[in-house]
Amino acid sequence: MPCTVGGDESQKPRQLLLVLCTLLVLCFLYNSIWRLHLWGLGHKPLYDKHGFLAKLDYYVTLEHLTPTPKESCRSGYAAEKMTTIYPWFIKPAPMFLDMNYRALSQIRNFYLPFGTKRQEWILDYILKVTNNYGLGEEFNSLSCKKCIVVGNGGILTNKSMGVRIDAYDLIVRLNNAPVRGYEKDVGSRTTMRITYPEGAFQNPELYETDSLFVLSAFKSSDFQWLRSMIFKRRMYNVEMFWKSVAQHIPREPGDMRILNPYFIQEAAFKLIGLPRYNEQNIPTLGAVAITMALHNCDEVDVAGFGYDMGKPHAPLHYYENTRMAAMNESSTHNICQEKEFLIKLLKEGVIRDLTNGILRELIVGGINGVENAFRAKSGGMMHCRCDVAISTTIRTSSS
Ligand SMILES: *[C@@H]1O[C@H](CO)[C@@H](O)[C@H](O)[C@H]1NC(C)=O
Ligand SMILES: *[C@@H]1O[C@H](CO)[C@@H](O)[C@H](O)[C@H]1NC(C)=O
Repeated sequence: MPCTVGGDESQKPRQLLLVLCTLLVLCFLYNSIWRLHLWGLGHKPLYDKHGFLAKLDYYVTLEHLTPTPKESCRSGYAAEKMTTIYPWFIKPAPMFLDMNYRALSQIRNFYLPFGTKRQEWILDYILKVTNNYGLGEEFNSLSCKKCIVVGNGGILTNKSMGVRIDAYDLIVRLNNAPVRGYEKDVGSRTTMRITYPEGAFQNPELYETDSLFVLSAFKSSDFQWLRSMIFKRRMYNVEMFWKSVAQHIPREPGDMRILNPYFIQEAAFKLIGLPRYNEQNIPTLGAVAITMALHNCDEVDVAGFGYDMGKPHAPLHYYENTRMAAMNESSTHNICQEKEFLIKLLKEGVIRDLTNGILRELIVGGINGVENAFRAKSGGMMHCRCDVAISTTIRTSSS
């Protein structure tokens, strides 16, 4: 007897369709639920791609904008705060290179400016002559160290911050930012002046007599230059420098130091998150100095950072007449990403900004305002990659 399924034969495609439809609906539902789950239950990563806590969306309050002077010093404060937003932070890192620099595994396998590879011969030679590698017993014996990095920004003008700046244990100045004649606004003490050949004072009279001269080397000719300065020899092959350089530094070898290049490396690749293989990966000296201070101080404050984007004719530096509108940012710096890093530090209270330049910039232009302003001024040279949006709500209603 033949097995007849007769009319059922015509039902088959319909059944198949039903099964397919059901599967499709189930698939859709599953997908939707999965997405809802992702959004709703917070499967967002806890840390951003640079290793910082991703959820840094606290309010920027007026307190951030006007830090109150605190006479006390909170031991371990900056490093502790840093660790809460960036768990990979490890405090110990020597400020300067000493004869044992080869033991520093983080730098010996990196080329300049991120390490010491292939510079060993000249480094040994220089370090043997300078023969001093620290800040001295007076600083080391402090149980709590308050440090300030003074930037060169025109925002320091007429703020009368001099007395407050002079109260810090360690005062870092950068490049050729003068003190004499500007004491009321920028203070009169300088613990160290961090610079590179093109940034150093060319006029020997402008150097303080009691500060350390600290070289932050970016290229191998910077070490050759330092060697010439130590031996008080004129440097003739100056074509390696992008502008004329100082021919005499009125400091003795014992007052000269070499900044640990680890801070350049850490600022660039870990903290700011610049690309490893790209020429735009050199942090500014200001960011490098802040990184150094975070490793060596209990509290870190800054002043003279940031530009007021709302005032294109405001002075760029406190000591010269260059206007912001004439600013040409070097294409080796990614200012926009660096700004993000500084904003993270400020918003979480790791550092404080006595002149409020960094956050004020954010208020005027937003981070995109900063980006656009820099892009316009550098003729499109800047490749700003501020892909991590900073969600900031600024409460200024009470002002
Ligand atoms: C600072 O104050 C002086 C004297 O009051 C004034 O001439 C100058 O324009 C001020 N500079 C800025 C940038 O506000
Ligand atoms: C800025 O850059 C342009 C073009 O590269 C140059 O012609 C000009 O002199 C620079 N301005 C300053 C103030 O350095």
